[in-house]
Amino acid sequence: MRMALVAAGWLVLAMLASSYAQTPTSGVRGLYSEKNVATGKYNGPGGCAASSCHGSVQPKTTTRIFQNEYTIWIAQDKHARAFSVLQNEVSQRIGAILNTGAPAKSPKCLACHALYVPPEQQAETFELADGVSCENCHGPASGWLGPHTTKDWPHEKSVQLGMYDTRNLENRSAKCLTCHLGTAEKFVGHEMIAAGHPDLTFELGLFTLVMPAHWKMPEQGNPWRQVQAWGVGQAVQLRESLNRLARRANGPVWPEYAELDCFACHHSLTRPEDSWREKRGYAGRRPGNPPWNESRVVVFRDLVQEISPDTAKQFDDEIAQLARLMNDLNGKREQIGASATRASALADALVKQVDAQGYDSAMTLRLMRRIARDGAAISVEDERTAEQAAMTLDSLFRAYNLNAKPANGGELRAAIDGLFAQLQDPSAYSAPRFAAQMQKVSEVVGR
Ligand code: HEC
Ligand code: HEC
Ligand code: HEC
Ligand code: HEC
Repeated sequence: MRMALVAAGWLVLAMLASSYAQTPTSGVRGLYSEKNVATGKYNGPGGCAASSCHGSVQPKTTTRIFQNEYTIWIAQDKHARAFSVLQNEVSQRIGAILNTGAPAKSPKCLACHALYVPPEQQAETFELADGVSCENCHGPASGWLGPHTTKDWPHEKSVQLGMYDTRNLENRSAKCLTCHLGTAEKFVGHEMIAAGHPDLTFELGLFTLVMPAHWKMPEQGNPWRQVQAWGVGQAVQLRESLNRLARRANGPVWPEYAELDCFACHHSLTRPEDSWREKRGYAGRRPGNPPWNESRVVVFRDLVQEISPDTAKQFDDEIAQLARLMNDLNGKREQIGASATRASALADALVKQVDAQGYDSAMTLRLMRRIARDGAAISVEDERTAEQAAMTLDSLFRAYNLNAKPANGGELRAAIDGLFAQLQDPSAYSAPRFAAQMQKVSEVVGR
């Protein structure tokens, strides 16, 4: 999936793609089953659209919030078009291949592309065609719609009345990932990808940046909140992807190719002399076995080493065991499920640690340096891992550049853009070339 990001005059092309999930596991909290959260009714975005509410054309400065949230969403946010894409040609073809019937009527698609809630929770103003709207992220409004407009009404009270707490970074990432990774009830697997659906990849920092912001930045007046959001987003997406792996290992479709390294199968072939894969070798697996897609682990590991060296050791051991099991062609499903569940519990503990960690200029710089230094190891893990590294460095750099204003900001920006350039044709991805560009980043950012 290709995203054009235009920010601060730079054009960054980020190649984005992948997929995800969660399993009912003992003691590990995963993405909630969405059926259980809705306490009130869903009104649809029309109820928020009045110009005195969230439909102002210009941002207002007299109130705590801008009041132009609806205007931004309807005019600029892709979520507002999520339903209409179900009527385009690609969707029609996906529907035909998968035999789902018209995608715009199929629960399989509506689950992520609309506010798809049971009829008894739909208020009269409700429209499926509104796509992914306010209440997909902020929760059913019927409980708080009236009172939340009163002066000095506290956010916490709205939360008690059914508003979803998107201010909390763990909750926020989990909410995005219900659609951008999937849950037990709604998912994108290789079958759907082979039919034409984009692979689901995510990184909270970059995706938050690309989503036209209808809230005040920097959030809560904390200039390093973006770095914290990146860290929490990494931990939550790892936890949820491990939960999804456990669920799939115990599910009807196995092996699930979307859990494996896409480009182990989908790369273009070269002369043996030119093959970086043959040169790299196949450590830990039989030559030719498609390996586990470790893209959500490899970059996150650098953060774990930075903030919690003790946990890092335990975490690495579990991940190494899981990788061994996954790299086997006939991997033992029960053992994979159990190992993924244990690793998910470790990731869950790390969510709290990462969230509680303080972030500042020195920490952000150390993280960028550590990840750039790790370039050689990151790059041989293939394209999806390289993509996570590029998105991560982009998110960290943006916060660092804005707040610390380094003298070599322009140079660093160019070096990171060079990483994205390496991802434009994923099937032609070259680890040595990506590693060389990481080396450049490392030289600019310092060791
Ligand atoms: C688990 C949630 C989920 C399900 C289920 C799902 N989608 Fe999607 N879909 C997404 C997300 C998230 C994106 C955006 C991906 C990105 O840009 O990273 C997307 C993107 C798309 C796109 C590309 C849109 C564009 O702007 O180019 C199409 C087409 C699409 N979906 C069709 C479908 C169809 C048809 C179905 C049902 C067969 C379906 N989707 C089911 C989550 C889902
Ligand atoms: C895809 C998810 C998503 C959708 C759709 C969405 N929002 Fe938001 N909204 C967020 C996130 C994330 C934040 C920032 C975190 C926060 O402040 O809660 C936010 C913040 C806000 C805020 C500021 C809250 C504060 O206390 O500062 C308002 C107001 C708001 N949204 C209203 C709306 C309205 C109205 C719509 C529909 C027109 C909408 N949102 C659609 C995710 C979403
Ligand atoms: C209810 C499901 C759902 C939730 C929740 C959700 N999204 Fe999405 N998102 C989608 C779908 C579907 C698309 C594809 C829309 C399209 O292409 O028209 C999408 C597209 C996007 C895109 C555009 C990607 C591109 O390729 O241009 C961004 C950025 C994004 N979402 C960020 C977020 C963030 C950040 C959150 C959480 C605050 C979030 N989303 C929550 C379903 C969801
Ligand atoms: C174990 C090997 C394997 C893995 C791993 C794998 N695929 Fe596939 N993929 C296939 C095969 C086989 C087909 C069917 C090709 C055909 O029939 O022409 C396919 C089909 C596809 C297609 C449709 C074919 C086309 O040319 O458009 C897409 C897109 C795709 N895969 C993307 C992915 C993505 C993204 C991932 C990782 C999330 C992935 N695949 C992981 C083997 C794999």
